[in-house]
This record gives sequence, structure tokens and C-alpha cells, in this order.
Amino acid sequence: MTLSTMIGRTFRKVLRAPTYARNSGALRTILMHSTPRRLANMILVEAEFRLRRTRLAGRPYVLVADPTNVCNLRCPLCTTGLRQQERRAGMMTWETYTHVIDTMAPWAYKVNLFNWGEPLLHTHIFDMIRYARDKNLGTSMSSNMSIDLPDESIDALIHSGLEFICLSIDGATQENYEKYRRRGNLQLVLSNVRRLVARRRALGSRTPIIEWQFIPMKHNEHEVEQARALATEIGVDLFRCIPVGIPFDSPNPEELRKTWFPASVSDGKVAGGDEIASNDTAQTACYFLYRYLVVNPDGRTSPCCVVSGAKNDFGDTAEPVFEKLWNNRHYRSGRSQFVHGGKVEVATVCDRCDLFAKRSALPGARRGRTIYLKQESDAAGTPPGGA
Ligand SMILES: C[S@@+](CC[C@H](N)C(=O)[O-])C[C@H]1O[C@@H](n2cnc3c(N)ncnc32)[C@H](O)[C@@H]1O
Ligand code: SF4
Repeated sequence: MTLSTMIGRTFRKVLRAPTYARNSGALRTILMHSTPRRLANMILVEAEFRLRRTRLAGRPYVLVADPTNVCNLRCPLCTTGLRQQERRAGMMTWETYTHVIDTMAPWAYKVNLFNWGEPLLHTHIFDMIRYARDKNLGTSMSSNMSIDLPDESIDALIHSGLEFICLSIDGATQENYEKYRRRGNLQLVLSNVRRLVARRRALGSRTPIIEWQFIPMKHNEHEVEQARALATEIGVDLFRCIPVGIPFDSPNPEELRKTWFPASVSDGKVAGGDEIASNDTAQTACYFLYRYLVVNPDGRTSPCCVVSGAKNDFGDTAEPVFEKLWNNRHYRSGRSQFVHGGKVEVATVCDRCDLFAKRSALPGARRGRTIYLKQESDAAGTPPGGA
């Protein structure tokens, strides 16, 4: 067998992989959507991340474009479900969306079309997916699926070219499912999932890859295996447990942990044997500030997918020069949190975040105290604007 045949076979195997583990998903995205410019940019970004550069030449290679922060459900640990969004509820306009996609498409590998709302509520969601696909971007979405989806919508979802869909279904019975997915209807969800699987097969499409995502909590952890069996019976591609999180800046985190965290979490495992991330601080700099551009429905940018309120915004995609947005004082100050002696020019939400290890400089890097050049309020409504 020649080398080129071997490479060809491996490539086809990856594309046809029946399961779509998260890491092979990332590899698949790179294989399917690489261009010389995207690849060179990603290598540059990764180098700048490791060097803890604060002013970047590379551009983010994952785009989060949140179609809407409106939701039909009321999940009690989601700031949208709690009605504590601190941002006007709305839908991303076509102009904002196409501007962001056009700006990022030469550099980015993929766009995540969800963040703080139910993306399937956006009236142009299928056009949005298609627009990104036509620019050779990978596409993914997370949905509660608890909405009326006529057959035409299911077909439109498949025809849009969406590559990956994560379905948030935390239960196997209505009684337990709705304790977190308040207002959700499990029967409706399951009917939608069954039709999605059936239509995907009937249309001969490999996509979207369908993941059933289950968040084990105190009230539902005993249903993990039942849900996994249901997922297998329906024929989704993946079943995945993820750790429960609590809202950033919650005033009563301990109380929430006591109420919601599952008893089964021990040794990094949860009911069902799935690996589950620890809630400890990650021993790395924050990769969001290097790899991700997070755009809200109003076109303003957040530093990451964890914080939501407008008071924490870092910029606005209306800024015509992307480098000015990406290297403004907010982004530079956020990145400086991870550099010994980093210059924090403006107060940001990163100052009070402990998800990533602060001052995690490279081994051997100069040690020193962070210098706060100027303390500014990041109060609600303050436009972070340019550099
Ligand atoms: C805010 S939701 C928006 C998308 C969509 N409405 C949904 O629920 O799938 C984004 C992701 O956060 C997940 N999520 C919701 N509450 C969570 C929690 N307390 N801990 C961890 N993930 C959570 C959802 O399941 C979903 O995958
Ligand atoms: S369905 Fe998603 S966006 Fe809606 S309240 Fe629940 S987690 Fe939040």
C-alpha cells in the first residue's frame, strides 16, 4: 500500500467515524475546514497563548455567535432561565451576523451558534447555518429541543448543513427532567429527536452528528443509565455527561452546590462512569482570550462563554478594525492576568474569575506582581469600545 493510499484511507475513516468524540470532533473540524491561512493562524494563536502574549497578531479561530438570548425554558442555574441576564433580550440581526461571519471566516475554523438562549427560536437560524457553511466554517449548536418542530423544520435543519447538535436532556422521566428543564416537555423532546434521527437516515445525511447531553444533578443522577439506554434505542450518535455549573458571580454558590450537585461525583467520575471535569482551577491561562471570539445577539463581545451580562462586555463587533477590538484595553488586561508583571490597564470581570490559574507564566518567565495601571469601573452600560 502506498503512502498516499494510507493517508487517503485514514482521512476517510476519520470522516466516517461512527462516533464523534469531542477530540476527534476537533480533529475532524481541522481536517475538513483547513486552509493555509486558517492553519497558519491557529499555529500562531497557539504560540501566542503559550508565550502569554497580551497583544496578539493571531485572530480567534473559534467564533461563538449567539443567535438569541431568549429562551422558552427556565433552567434554574442558567442566567437566562433565571431572568438575570443583564442584557436586553433579543435576536441577532442578519447584518450583525453576516458582518461577523465575513470578518472571521478567513481565519476561523468553526462557529458555535448558541450561548445564552434557545437558538431554534431564531426565525433565520437555518439561513444562518447555511451562510456559515457556505464560507466553509464548521457549525455546531446546543438546543433544548422542547419546541414544536414540524417535519419541514427538521428537514431544514438537516439541509442547512449543521455539523453537530448537542441536545440538552437531563432526565429519562418527565418528573425528573422538568426539575431542571422547567417548562420543558420530555415527550415533545423525544418525538423531535426520533424524527431528527429518522429523517437524517431517510435523507442519507451524515450530519448533524447528534449528541444527547445529560447533566447529572442530585434529582436526576439515578436516571443516567435509563437515559443512556433511551439514547441508544433512539439511535443518537453520542451520550455524554457533563458537570453541573453554577452561575458566575452567584451570591450563594455553596447553597446552590448543596441543592444541585450530585452525590455520585467522586474521583473525577459521575454516575454512569463518564469522566467529569473537576471544578478546580485549570492550571493554564484562559484560552478563551486567545482562541474564542464570543459575540452576543446585540453584536457586543464577551470575554468568554461563562459570563453573560452587558456590564462584562469587552468590545463591539461594530468596531470596523478587528485588530482594534481584539487588542483593546479589555482584552489586553484580561490576558495580562496570566503574565507575571502583566499590565492590567482596566478592571475587567477576569479580575474576579478563578477558572484559570492567574499569573501562570511560562516556566522560567520573570516573576513579579501584576501592575494595575488604572482602575476603571466596568459597571453596566459602560461601552468598552476601542483601544
Ligand atoms: C445556556 S445553554 C443554551 C443552549 C440551549 N438553550 C440549551 O439548553 O441547550 C448552553 C449550554 O449550557 C448547558 N447548561 C445549562 N445549564 C447548565 C449548568 N447548570 N451547568 C452546565 N451546563 C449547563 C446547556 O445544557 C447547553 O448545552
Ligand atoms: S434551555 Fe438553555 S438557555 Fe434556556 S434556560 Fe435552559 S440552559 Fe438556559
